[in-house]
Amino acid sequence: MGYKVAVVGATGNVGREMLNILAERQFPADEVVALASPRSLGTEISFGDRILKCKVLDHFNFSDVDICLMSAGSAVAKEWGPKVAAAGAVVIDNSSFWRYDSDVPLIVPEVNADAVVGFRKRGIIANPNCSTAQLVVALKPLHDKATIKRVVVATYQSVSGAGKEAMDELFSQTKAVFTMEELPPSKKFPKRMAFNLIPHIDVFMEDGYTKEEWKMMVETKKILDPKIKLTATCVRVPVFISHAEAVNIEFENPITADEARDILRSAPGCLVIDKQEPGGYATPHECAGEDATYISRIREDATVENGLAMWIVSDNLRKGAALNAIQIAECLINRKLIQAKQKAA
Ligand SMILES: NC(=O)c1ccc[n+]([C@@H]2O[C@H](COP(=O)([O-])OP(=O)(O)OC[C@H]3O[C@@H](n4cnc5c(N)ncnc54)[C@H](OP(=O)(O)O)[C@@H]3O)[C@@H](O)[C@H]2O)c1
Repeated sequence: MGYKVAVVGATGNVGREMLNILAERQFPADEVVALASPRSLGTEISFGDRILKCKVLDHFNFSDVDICLMSAGSAVAKEWGPKVAAAGAVVIDNSSFWRYDSDVPLIVPEVNADAVVGFRKRGIIANPNCSTAQLVVALKPLHDKATIKRVVVATYQSVSGAGKEAMDELFSQTKAVFTMEELPPSKKFPKRMAFNLIPHIDVFMEDGYTKEEWKMMVETKKILDPKIKLTATCVRVPVFISHAEAVNIEFENPITADEARDILRSAPGCLVIDKQEPGGYATPHECAGEDATYISRIREDATVENGLAMWIVSDNLRKGAALNAIQIAECLINRKLIQAKQKAA
């Protein structure tokens, strides 16, 4: 007997990808329920070769749900996380609302799967920010080898990271440029997104960093090691899917580019594509729809004592959100930390 899984935010970018991945991985679910806002009542959504009709979160009874995959933003997570947990389901939330709560584990299974047991405190597990998830997958094996002191990262983040309306905005602006029409006004982005770059994601903080940059710093510490110093510049780029990152890493101990390449080749979740020739590196386009974190352009950074530079790319809707959440659910099942309610009855 399998699990009953509820996907909250099923009509969104992340929710739809969750349904795809549950079907692809043949997740042991007897029943999958698609939930969203009242706007989406009855909307048909693909789940493998089946179609699910979307139900409304506000009217849904979670008493026989085992796992709730939530990706409907912070307001929904704040209100519904504790309610769903109180009904006895484990909540795996994609918003930033629970990530920094010390009673909520923040998990990337390739990095800190053991911390998942902490879910018992609140019944909630947080999924990290998309740019943090792919970064820590690549940093973890290098940290184990040579101890990371400091990371400097510049991100190139796709518009799907800002939700489905943001993708529509880039599409309609791009179309308007080509058809020489007046550009529709920017709603999801602070400036025009088509054929442009915007060095501003989420709100500004008092110190001049943006909250997206702050999240990468705080989440890397919580997931990997509180001693790691990290500074980020997060940039939105006119790409639909996949985030890329240019990363400089300073280590405590020596590590060569060849050693790093070998370590990353056998590290979980990592795929090295690193030929020093035209096209011998990963780009967002070919990583869309893929599960791995791709690492390219690995080289020694001679400006610091033990330094490496590299290029990291991954599908933000998969490893950055939906896939990671489902890997967390699989981790709970494989470690026998949860049991299907129907089976237990
Ligand atoms: N996109 C990424 O790369 C990424 C990565 C990591 C984390 N996240 C986080 O994941 C969450 C979802 O992101 P997304 O990109 O999928 O956004 P999205 O495409 O805008 O989708 C939002 C989803 O939330 C639902 N929703 C909104 N308000 C609701 C309410 N009051 N009750 C029930 N459902 C509600 C929407 O339903 P309707 O269609 O009915 O409005 C829709 O299904 C956000 O918290 C985001 O920060 C996203």
